[in-house]
Amino acid sequence: MKTFNVAIVGLGTVGSGVYKILKQKASLLAHRAGVRIRLVAACDNDAKKRRALNLSRSIAVRDLRQVVNDPKIDCIVELIGGKGIAKKLILDAFKNGKDVVTANKALLAECGKEVFAAAKRSDRQIYFEASVGGGIPVIKSLRESLVSNDISSILSIINGTANYILTRMSIDKMDFKQALKLAQHKGYAEADPSFDIEGIDSAHKITILSEIAFGKSVSLKEVYCQGITHIDEADIEFADEVGYVIKLLAIAKQTKGGIEIRVQPTLLPKDHILASVNGSFNAIYLHGDETGDMLLYGRGAGSRPTASAVVSDIIDLAKVRCANAPLLPYPAFAPISAKKLVDIESRYYLRFSVIDKPGVLSQISSLLGKQGISISDVMQRERKAGRVVPLIVLTHEAYEKNLRAAIKQIDRLKCIKKRTQVLRIEE
Ligand code: HSE
Repeated sequence: MKTFNVAIVGLGTVGSGVYKILKQKASLLAHRAGVRIRLVAACDNDAKKRRALNLSRSIAVRDLRQVVNDPKIDCIVELIGGKGIAKKLILDAFKNGKDVVTANKALLAECGKEVFAAAKRSDRQIYFEASVGGGIPVIKSLRESLVSNDISSILSIINGTANYILTRMSIDKMDFKQALKLAQHKGYAEADPSFDIEGIDSAHKITILSEIAFGKSVSLKEVYCQGITHIDEADIEFADEVGYVIKLLAIAKQTKGGIEIRVQPTLLPKDHILASVNGSFNAIYLHGDETGDMLLYGRGAGSRPTASAVVSDIIDLAKVRCANAPLLPYPAFAPISAKKLVDIESRYYLRFSVIDKPGVLSQISSLLGKQGISISDVMQRERKAGRVVPLIVLTHEAYEKNLRAAIKQIDRLKCIKKRTQVLRIEE
């Protein structure tokens, strides 16, 4: 049996999971792949991480240059993350004739074009299943299993941390900080958790998905991105009362006016298929012209689920190099323009902080009406005459530009005491 020599660089949450799978399942993998995967180096400059895995002396490496320059290594598994050292490692690996497996969504979303061009120049490959959806084989499904489909829309929950936080806030009534701490403790969060809670991680991932699904990638700067830090427990409760849950959705749609792509906290009806995707689970709900609607669901973060995706890429590359399996074409990652947010139509959830007195609702509805925005539901639960209360308004479909114009005027009214909370609704 032929052997494919692999080095893992970065022994954090995912790297240690990859190490364990390769070690514990070596014979199963060889049997299923028809190629033996040999781990020849496990590298991290942090001695604690190396020691935690009890690595044998023959594979423990501190300095990644040793790995890049080792001619017997066929494939480098880059699990450092980010665009600094990781990018240099990947580019050097190509130059030295090595393939790469990575989970690095930030790098691919921001520098995908450059990275794939470099791979092509060196006739090497970079596989990246673990960059989106943790253990869910979404990249492979899109590139291979759904190859005959035109994908028209993707609605996705692709950040486990944010989904975990919103779930704990909604089911266990935790506050934001408690829920974030727990998510970090469970190993779901990025090194910098602001990537998770500000929606940036989801924006990276939807940029990659749109490239693979549509063959077009919107430049990351054009992806409208709103996180969950401003979601109040009150919004979750009000949404619940009117039949919705709040999820951080990453959305990409091909429309006549161009590609719509955005990350935003969104109200979903409780019977929507994505509404029951809870905890660290991720789901990608897409529409193919041949298959119709499809849901891919699974663990989107965590050590072993993400490592499962990394190992699948290692096996695919081993089959290419050792058993003449065909290479997949290089994605182009060529940025195109996205549809402007102001031209997008949506339903809206609006939470006004208003003085409780007669005539307030009519002032608000009149300004919404002037912009052609029609109201579908109004809710005021508290009665505190002369003091501030929340007033919830749901609208029918409206253009973002009209909504913004109306809110700008409404927020100037004397009876409005705080900036209005605006969330979008998907059906
Ligand atoms: N931090 C990510 C998440 C996992 O919470 O989904 C890795 O992409």
